[in-house]
Amino acid sequence: MASSRIFAPRGTQDGLPGEIRMKRFVESVFMEHCRCYGYHEAHTPVFEYSELFERGVGPVTDIVEKEMYTFTDKHGERLALRPEGTAALARTIIEHDLTKDLPLKLSYKITCYRQENPAEGRLREFHQIGAECYGSLLPQADSEVITLAYTALRAMGIRDLTLNINSLGCQSCRTSYINALVRYLLPHANSGELCSTCVSRMGRSPLRVMDCKNPSCREVAKKAPKLADFLCDDCRDHYEGVKASLDAVGIPYNEKNHLIRGLDYYERTVFEFKAGEGGANGTVCGGGRYDGLCARLGGPNIPAVGFAIGEERAIIAMRESGMEEIPPEKPLVYVASDAPSRASRGAARLRGLGVYAERDLMGLGLKAQIKAAKDCGARWLVITGEDGIRLTDLKTGAEQPMPTEAWDDVARAISE
Ligand code: HAM
Repeated sequence: MASSRIFAPRGTQDGLPGEIRMKRFVESVFMEHCRCYGYHEAHTPVFEYSELFERGVGPVTDIVEKEMYTFTDKHGERLALRPEGTAALARTIIEHDLTKDLPLKLSYKITCYRQENPAEGRLREFHQIGAECYGSLLPQADSEVITLAYTALRAMGIRDLTLNINSLGCQSCRTSYINALVRYLLPHANSGELCSTCVSRMGRSPLRVMDCKNPSCREVAKKAPKLADFLCDDCRDHYEGVKASLDAVGIPYNEKNHLIRGLDYYERTVFEFKAGEGGANGTVCGGGRYDGLCARLGGPNIPAVGFAIGEERAIIAMRESGMEEIPPEKPLVYVASDAPSRASRGAARLRGLGVYAERDLMGLGLKAQIKAAKDCGARWLVITGEDGIRLTDLKTGAEQPMPTEAWDDVARAISE
């Protein structure tokens, strides 16, 4: 009896070679930009104690309330698959006492897990590349990370980019805003215009109502008081500084008064990059300042700002911008022989010298191997026989005899 097939879990994507080539391109462009900006790569585990994200991202957020993959291990520890990188990196920085030499500039490429409803650009397992700058309160730090994200996204080939920015203020100016917001929201909650999640969150975290995706809540949010009207002098100066610094580097932005972003650790600057039409899943990058996160996680009081780009969303945007698929690399040389062990030896020698060399693994005769060499797009053909090597340039047809085992000479000739 035939066994039934097993498919990949919903919201996951297999990484087939074409997709992986795009991902490696995205990552290499990003990491090259990080090198120029001085952001060094760091890694964190795929799972952490759940409490890290509950405290860091915030208990009243979609990520923690609805989307985290949590489990209890054999020892009764409550763990969570990493839904995002910022809280995890903050934990690492505190644990390894990395805050003595500031600014500390780190980058990462990570796998994240969120139990969302899968759609195009919305996955349950996805990949982020990001950068975090610790130690600076200056608006130039905000503008540096925004510039890094912008130039990297442009270098990936994404054309139609919109940068939205806002300031959420600090804890103190946000308190007066939240009072005004609750006063505004209450009648809408009583008249049934807000979804049940928003009603339940109003008492605990009313800001979350502002980024609810429910259409009726969005209508209410549109007319809500603006945070910009409640900023204290320091926060207003900081926000003006960020904008001036973006103007200085020539990065265009839209001020979006109702931009909140769905993580509780943000203070002052928040930003997002949208690509193309820019629906919810068109947000290719999100970020902001989180000056209170380290202290909230039991560490020192250190300001920080950063962002993360969703790799899968960046690739969708690159394709929409007309970027073509990246073809696989072609072999430089095909090693053919009527004796398989001679082909094995020749291919191994060339590969050992760093050459991409193919050879037959399907039991083909010499004539069919020569055809296979042309079909696979190799530039050179080597036929290794008992009496010596014959090197053929498959582009010009020019042939060159060489002594048996002269593999160094072959490598030199084909690499020129
Ligand atoms: P986030 O806005 O939740 O921020 O995610 C950042 C980016 O990850 C999004 O803009 C999107 O491109 C991608 N992304 C998020 N969820 C999904 C999903 N379900 N499927 C595919 N892609 C997704 C953070 O995670 C913050 N840690 C960013 C940050 C770094 N803020 C400061 N530093």
